[in-house]
Amino acid sequence: MFIPTDHVAADRYISEGYETVRGMSSRFAASVCAYLLRRQTALGITGHFAEIGTFEGRFFIAMALALEPGERALGIDLFDWPNDGVMDLFLSHCMRHGVEAGRHVALKRDSRTMMPDELRAALGPGDVRFFHIDGEHADESLAKDLALALPLMHPQGIIALDDMLHPAYPRLVETVHRWLAAHPEFCVMCIVDREDIVAAAKYLLCRRDAVALYEDDLMSRFEKNLFVLGGDFLDHVSVVLTPHPRLAEVD
Ligand SMILES: C[S@@+](CC[C@H](N)C(=O)[O-])C[C@H]1O[C@@H](n2cnc3c(N)ncnc32)[C@H](O)[C@@H]1O
Repeated sequence: MFIPTDHVAADRYISEGYETVRGMSSRFAASVCAYLLRRQTALGITGHFAEIGTFEGRFFIAMALALEPGERALGIDLFDWPNDGVMDLFLSHCMRHGVEAGRHVALKRDSRTMMPDELRAALGPGDVRFFHIDGEHADESLAKDLALALPLMHPQGIIALDDMLHPAYPRLVETVHRWLAAHPEFCVMCIVDREDIVAAAKYLLCRRDAVALYEDDLMSRFEKNLFVLGGDFLDHVSVVLTPHPRLAEVD
């Protein structure tokens, strides 16, 4: 499902090019996340986009196209699955879909062995305003990826976590809740629901004092996709956006 973000290049790619790049993030999630970059720009929040688990660039390209001049998109991946040709495919998809050469940088690395300064060196001056973590879906890896992302983040930035509540990784949310307990200044601001089993849900995290910048705006912008009950995290209720919202009929 494609929802316009009002960014011409990102919308053209998400509506026409997205399915031509192999990948796993849903088009619905790309619409919401690219829109959030637009929202950040409108709020004066500047910075880069970074992603762990870039694969062929399906989600990456949508985000890179929605950045502003001077901002960069960094993709980190082992780039060895399903074979060593995946980096070349990624670069050719970027070129074909109009991501300028100076706009993006790719690192063929194991994110678990990286330090924040290596990402800073690749990106140049400025914070990361949107970080997408979609690498190895295992407890230790996700914990390391969150530790890598945190020092780079803009104070009002967003960390997106892929494949939350996925049936194949039912315990991955435990890592998230452990991290949230250690970082109580953060919360899950929004859950972007799945489109199907290979285009699963994302959690969007931000600092609690930044939630108000996003939640009302998301609820009105994506009114037709709002699951009105929200997500019950006990100490707060997150926005839930879903491609086909409805409640169970009881009579
Ligand atoms: C599910 S795919 C990413 C899909 C992509 N983000 C999209 O939306 O289409 C997961 C990627 O994570 C990469 N990956 C797994 N473990 C990694 C690690 N330790 N460091 C860097 N990349 C890793 C894999 O090579 C694979 O390309």
